[in-house]
Amino acid sequence: MKSLTINVALATLLSGVVPTSAAVLSRGGNGTSCGGPKPTNGITTAAPTPTATEPCVVARDAFTSQVSASPGLVPTMAASLAYDCLKSVPVHKEPAIRLLDGLKPFLEWQSDQAFLKNPPTDYPYPPVDIFGELERIRSNLEANKYSGEVEWQEDLFKNIVGKPHNGHLAYHPDLLTVPFEWVRPWTLVSVSEDGTSLPVIKVLEDAVSPSETSSHIIEINGVDAAKFIEERVSGSSNTQDPDAGYNTMFFSRANKAGLQANGYFEGGGRESLTFANGTTIVKPNIARFHYGPYDWNNVVDAETMHKEFCRGAYITNTAARDVKPIRRTTAPKGIRSYPQPPVSLVSRQDEPNTIDGYPEPVLIADDQVVSGYFIDEPGFEDVAVLVLLSFSSDFVSFQSAVQNFFVEAVEAGKTKLIIDLQANGGGTILQGYDTFRQIFPDIIQDGPSRWRSSSTFEALSQTFSPLCSNYMPTADSQELDNVCTTVNNWRNDLNGTNGRFTSYADKFGPLTLSGDSYTNYMEWDPANPVITRQAFGTDITGYGRRTNFTRPFGGPENIVLLYDGYCASTCSIFSQFMRHDAGVKSIAMGGRPNEGPIQGVGGVKGSQVYPFRQMSVLAEIARSYTEDPTLVKELQRLDDTYVSSRSPYQLPVVNVRDAVLPGELENGIPTQFVTELADCRLYWTESMIQNTGEIWKAAAQAAFKGGKCVAGGIAQPARRPQITASKSYGYRRHPQPVRGGQVLASDSPIMQHLRVQVSD
Ligand SMILES: *[C@@H]1O[C@H](CO)[C@@H](O)[C@H](O)[C@H]1NC(C)=O
Ligand SMILES: *[C@@H]1O[C@H](CO)[C@@H](O)[C@H](O)[C@H]1NC(C)=O
Ligand SMILES: *[C@@H]1O[C@H](CO)[C@@H](O)[C@H](O)[C@H]1NC(C)=O
Ligand SMILES: *[C@@H]1O[C@H](CO)[C@@H](O)[C@H](O)[C@H]1NC(C)=O
Repeated sequence: MKSLTINVALATLLSGVVPTSAAVLSRGGNGTSCGGPKPTNGITTAAPTPTATEPCVVARDAFTSQVSASPGLVPTMAASLAYDCLKSVPVHKEPAIRLLDGLKPFLEWQSDQAFLKNPPTDYPYPPVDIFGELERIRSNLEANKYSGEVEWQEDLFKNIVGKPHNGHLAYHPDLLTVPFEWVRPWTLVSVSEDGTSLPVIKVLEDAVSPSETSSHIIEINGVDAAKFIEERVSGSSNTQDPDAGYNTMFFSRANKAGLQANGYFEGGGRESLTFANGTTIVKPNIARFHYGPYDWNNVVDAETMHKEFCRGAYITNTAARDVKPIRRTTAPKGIRSYPQPPVSLVSRQDEPNTIDGYPEPVLIADDQVVSGYFIDEPGFEDVAVLVLLSFSSDFVSFQSAVQNFFVEAVEAGKTKLIIDLQANGGGTILQGYDTFRQIFPDIIQDGPSRWRSSSTFEALSQTFSPLCSNYMPTADSQELDNVCTTVNNWRNDLNGTNGRFTSYADKFGPLTLSGDSYTNYMEWDPANPVITRQAFGTDITGYGRRTNFTRPFGGPENIVLLYDGYCASTCSIFSQFMRHDAGVKSIAMGGRPNEGPIQGVGGVKGSQVYPFRQMSVLAEIARSYTEDPTLVKELQRLDDTYVSSRSPYQLPVVNVRDAVLPGELENGIPTQFVTELADCRLYWTESMIQNTGEIWKAAAQAAFKGGKCVAGGIAQPARRPQITASKSYGYRRHPQPVRGGQVLASDSPIMQHLRVQVSD
């Protein structure tokens, strides 16, 4: 699950470190200083009475007084004072070094590290050597170079998590993330006045209900506003593309619907904004207290602050893994993520199931992840819109919703399809495969990928592969399913041409490239009943009981992909099939205030993520099958107990699989490092912020009606079929998917490795 606020918080911490206010200034140079209007995010800002001098005691007192005065509200304090508390906590050196050493076996799985160290020349960010950084931080700790606990944690986050700009690589050190969440009292948008002039930055209220005097922002804390925001993004965004990162800082209806976020800018810092009319407004940034499983009453000084909020540091070695290896069929429960992620997207019974700022849907799934629309306006009668806020949902409900919407659209005579992928951070990998095959049932997708060949990866392969020589995957569960459906069984997966691997070496190589070692290229096997029928209770379209589908919208010229740059993980896999295998064109919205084309898929393009926990669980399973001392020694390294306990806010994850474009197999550059520009770029306008339907009309114009783009353009085919889709393509209603009995629990190791979703 995603908790976007944290990202903002960290982004703020990382960039100039918790500024204490924000001033906006305008070109008129009037410099009027207005007292801040109320914060837009509905939280209180009670200033603590600083009776104590220990900064963490000041924080605790602020917390306790607010909790007793207004029990229902989330307590807050000035961000600068909260940060003073964090800075007062002394370095705890031994546990810090233990953490850095414990991270190594997990970071060894990061599949693109050789390319991060030595990126192609057109990669937009500086190189980063993850293991070099780890060594540097470790020696700084050894040499007592840090002034406090939060300083080395920031160093770790900035340089090992932030700089790789990979949404599948996340580690949130405890002191940095557990006690507070940072909020900027501004929600911003980036809009073009007329759709063609360069976008400017505005406060959301001014875009939604502009007044006579409202004005756009020209400076933030005295720095050019766009520059200020770009700098935040280049520090630590989880997108590989700077325009996509820029977009994530702003409010959009899709971000709100899909991510429950108001844009990352809101999440942290204290800024002064200067508007173009000369007015400057300063508002203090806010720290929201986290509590729940943590007790602020236990904080009596900086030392007890550490004890309370860095609890993991006190776990002893022996307690961690003094247990006999046991054969497990399901993963142990993940470490509790705190605070609990927002309840996602569940519609309320008493309200119509619609998405705020979106038109009335023709069809919408209960969880709102899939919805479908027609544009009821003259000139757009032929257009249907499929909105996919993620690929993370009940598999069968998602599959059925897509299928049913296509049936309704075709029956209503719609011949054009917009697929709106704004805010889509991925989900279940095979859901992306299924959606592609519902649109192009006759095209076999081509998604080559590979893993980094680390010593612990090899130990798992050497343990698991021999166990699977007589294993046959079936829809009914068997003891060896967890072992034999992992990548580490050489007989599992398909080779680069969708055939079977012939040997251990055929799959695992290792192949060397750019100074690193990898497996051979491989493809998912969507016909494997364990990862389809057994896992989800249905087949992937094009396989098993779901063959003989026909195209609902005909060729690629009748379809367009709509992006806001956020698209990542499974969304990037789906996009690759749509663009490269089927030739569908795409439109990207927004971006930095410049001209020229931008990427649509700006999020992580790595094609698989593992929580550290998953590797630890697999190692535990493996240890129950081997006594070989060399293997046991390797497997024991994959114990995440300590490292995960020091990142309790969000489970730590690592990108374990590189996607490589079919045309790039020789040079092996991961798609993460390949710039793929969208065919057409459009700017957002105020009316689009108010109503998502306005975005679709602009997209339909550009894609199907010869409308202009601010960069690029989509050429119209010489001839377009004029007859209705149902006649033209013979699209038929197919039988509903049938649940094939028991489906796997969501925490089983198999389900865990079927997910690929961006993380902050
Ligand atoms: C500054 O603002 C004041 C009050 O709104 C206004 O009367 C004045 O004309 C402004 N000055 C400039 C230079 O814009
Ligand atoms: C300038 O614009 C800002 C933002 O729209 C607004 O809050 C402020 O009142 C304006 N100032 C004047 C003097 O009109
Ligand atoms: C994939 O496997 C098939 C059958 O084993 C083989 O004929 C084909 O050459 C293999 N493809 C690659 C790229 O190794
Ligand atoms: C599906 O197509 C295959 C080959 O075209 C055909 O043999 C088979 O009968 C079809 N099945 C159904 C259920 O239509």
